[in-house]
Amino acid sequence: MNPTVRLAHFSDIHVTAPSCSWRLRDWFNKRMSAWLNLRVLGRGKHFRHTDRILLALREELAERNFHRVLFSGDATAMGFEEEVRRAAELLGVDTKEQLPGLAVPGNHDYCTAAARRSGHFERHFAPWQDGARVADEIYPFAQRVGPVWLVGVNSATANRWAWDARGQVGATQLERLEKLLASLEPGPRILVTHYPIWLADGTPEHAFHGLRDLDALVSVARRGGVVLWLHGHRHGSYHHAHSEHVPFPVICAGSATQSGCWSYSDYTLNGGHLRGVQRIFDERSGHFRDGRTFELDLPI
Ligand SMILES: [Fe+2]
Ligand SMILES: [Fe+2]
Repeated sequence: MNPTVRLAHFSDIHVTAPSCSWRLRDWFNKRMSAWLNLRVLGRGKHFRHTDRILLALREELAERNFHRVLFSGDATAMGFEEEVRRAAELLGVDTKEQLPGLAVPGNHDYCTAAARRSGHFERHFAPWQDGARVADEIYPFAQRVGPVWLVGVNSATANRWAWDARGQVGATQLERLEKLLASLEPGPRILVTHYPIWLADGTPEHAFHGLRDLDALVSVARRGGVVLWLHGHRHGSYHHAHSEHVPFPVICAGSATQSGCWSYSDYTLNGGHLRGVQRIFDERSGHFRDGRTFELDLPI
């Protein structure tokens, strides 16, 4: 088994679609504030190069000898099916040329309770949700790549209020995660989810932007031998080495498409060593170039 594993990790692409199926109830739920944010308050212009960047990303994924693509959520701006479909198409999720992938949703993909229940994300990203699972439930699921296990955990929920961007894994998924981690054959476990443990400066997430059951998820991850936590949600890229608080490193990919943040992460794993390269989109050339590099030791 080849000990070197190459992974591409990107997040928070926030794809929009030219026309979306608005329902009457959408004018009274979180979708309305998401739309105002996007169209009136100027969030949309920060994502104006999304199509171009995703095209460049696909070229990168084809050229840089990756074994797997990891997407940690927020495919859409407002959780409409048209947006999810478009995001999956732009990424080539269901094409023969595309690499195998792992995808989990973000809070924007479950913008409303109806969006969460619809299963649009799971349907359009199904090729990137293959894996071992417990009791045929979609989440969590695990994929083997060489000696490594990649474990996708759904931490997104629908929220009622405009200011609420919290997530939750939930007690039943946590139980399944505990079982899944215990049942996998030996090998380092890498957790992929939308929500962070910390912000870039090491402080906890803000009250209405974090994971409600973060402590429980960290406990299950710790007991289950997780050696690395990969996430998005925050649009700037950063990482933390392991510490006495969390015994594994944590990496935020940031947004692949937001102006100024636009980057993805390139990882080379060799045994317990990870080399990370932030690949930054260059607006002028339309290609990605190297940004910061970092080295992390995983607790293997
Ligand atoms: Fe996001
Ligand atoms: Fe998010």
